[in-house]
Amino acid sequence: MSKNKDENRVIIFDTTLRDGEQSPGASMNLEEKLRIAKVLDELGVDIIEAGFPIASNGDFEAVREISRTVTTPIICALARAHRQDIERAAEALEPARRKRIHTFISTSPLHMKYKLQMEPEEVHQAVIDSVTRARNLCDDVEWSCEDGSRTEPDFLCRTVESAIAAGATTINIPDTVGYAIPEEFAALISMLFDRVPNIDKAVISVHCHNDLGLAVANSLAAIHAGARQVECTINGLGERAGNAALEEIVMTLRTRQDFLPYDARIKTENITKASRLVSGITGFVVQPNKAIVGANAFAHEAGIHQHGMMRHAGTYEIMSPESIGLTKSSLVMGKHSGRHAFRAKLVELGFDVGDNALEDAFRRFKDLADKKKEIFDEDIIALVDDEVVRVNDRIQMGSLKVVCGTEGPQTAELALNIDGEVLSTTATGDGPVDAIFIAIRQLFPHEAKLALFQVHAVTKGTDAQAEVTVRLEENGRTVNGQGADTDTLVAAARAYVNALNKLLTQREKSVSALSA
Ligand code: KIV
Ligand code: ZN
Repeated sequence: MSKNKDENRVIIFDTTLRDGEQSPGASMNLEEKLRIAKVLDELGVDIIEAGFPIASNGDFEAVREISRTVTTPIICALARAHRQDIERAAEALEPARRKRIHTFISTSPLHMKYKLQMEPEEVHQAVIDSVTRARNLCDDVEWSCEDGSRTEPDFLCRTVESAIAAGATTINIPDTVGYAIPEEFAALISMLFDRVPNIDKAVISVHCHNDLGLAVANSLAAIHAGARQVECTINGLGERAGNAALEEIVMTLRTRQDFLPYDARIKTENITKASRLVSGITGFVVQPNKAIVGANAFAHEAGIHQHGMMRHAGTYEIMSPESIGLTKSSLVMGKHSGRHAFRAKLVELGFDVGDNALEDAFRRFKDLADKKKEIFDEDIIALVDDEVVRVNDRIQMGSLKVVCGTEGPQTAELALNIDGEVLSTTATGDGPVDAIFIAIRQLFPHEAKLALFQVHAVTKGTDAQAEVTVRLEENGRTVNGQGADTDTLVAAARAYVNALNKLLTQREKSVSALSA
């Protein structure tokens, strides 16, 4: 039986851009966050947690820009219990049509003693003060008790009651360290419904981390016990082992309506698109056997399974690939396809590119069609993703010639266009990729360290495009660059150049923030 006014409606609160972005190496720039926010909007999430405005100027700008441009979901900003945090969150949310301030403080004995170094009474007062302050700036206030699942029950009930009395409209119970067990977590939610007298004045939310691989199970158990908001991320991105995966929660609710008759209003056909975008931007590749969005999630290799599938898809498929927007790898076009067909394909794949980006993408599509016999949707997606991010780059890829093989020395002859000037060099290295990266450093000297180099094939076959991710780190800044090409070494060079351009944007941002 549902214990909230809104019966069986489950609110989907996406925190890919906040908790997801907090995972080491997953930082995104403004343009990337905006692209993800737009796809989350298409997916139909109810709330987008867009960032933690006090944490950096980049976070502030992202929350502000998303507030300005994404108008259907509620835009949420995170704030600690401090006055400055709450005011900064309100300022960032100012242009939003629908907004929420999410304020939090730790309530477990361990966190209060060692992290906050505060007595429980001081924490309790801080809950009342922070929620009151947030409520004076925004009608929609969420309060979270960080490390809620390890908080003493009496103190948890008392703080929840006080937060609601101070004006919180959503109470979020995080399993911050992913410690809970589904039955235990459900019992905790039931206890709140039984013991907190004003519980009916707020929506109860949960926020589960995946340290024991139980984030989705805990979230579903909590829904069953009366929670009506779940906080989750695309692909389960998030700190350490991540957060509960949005796609797993939503598809479980959709597939098991018989057992979980709850209503999450997500357009599940956009799941694949959102998953690919988040993975492409962050460089966090989805494991092939990941539920729902892994490359093998709908693959039927064993003969006996294929036999059953041919007779009835339900024999081995509990949901259809189409329900998550997975189209059969369709052969789209070849070298004779024209600009109109290409534009139509982009629209079908959900891309909305400007004329310049379209021209560049079309030119690269023609180049690709010369090299690769069959071009699939995935090829077009990789190519356009690659193109959209490059239009305004200061450093543009020119030409590349590589000598590699057993005889060495591995050599790269590289030309880059830097601020409108073509510069070229030749470098040798410990392998062709090393030679290319040394050449880039010669043409554009910088101190950033290479933190990740990752290659994966976009489609099957030896003529498949390679998609390369390069992660660079400099003075605490982390950026991910992507590059795609049928030539893995060209893709590697493009990915490095892309990462470098992002680093330049971040450097410029911190300089303008300092002088602001
Ligand atoms: O995991 C956590 O406790 C959080 C809170 C800020 C909600 O992310
Ligand atoms: Zn979290």
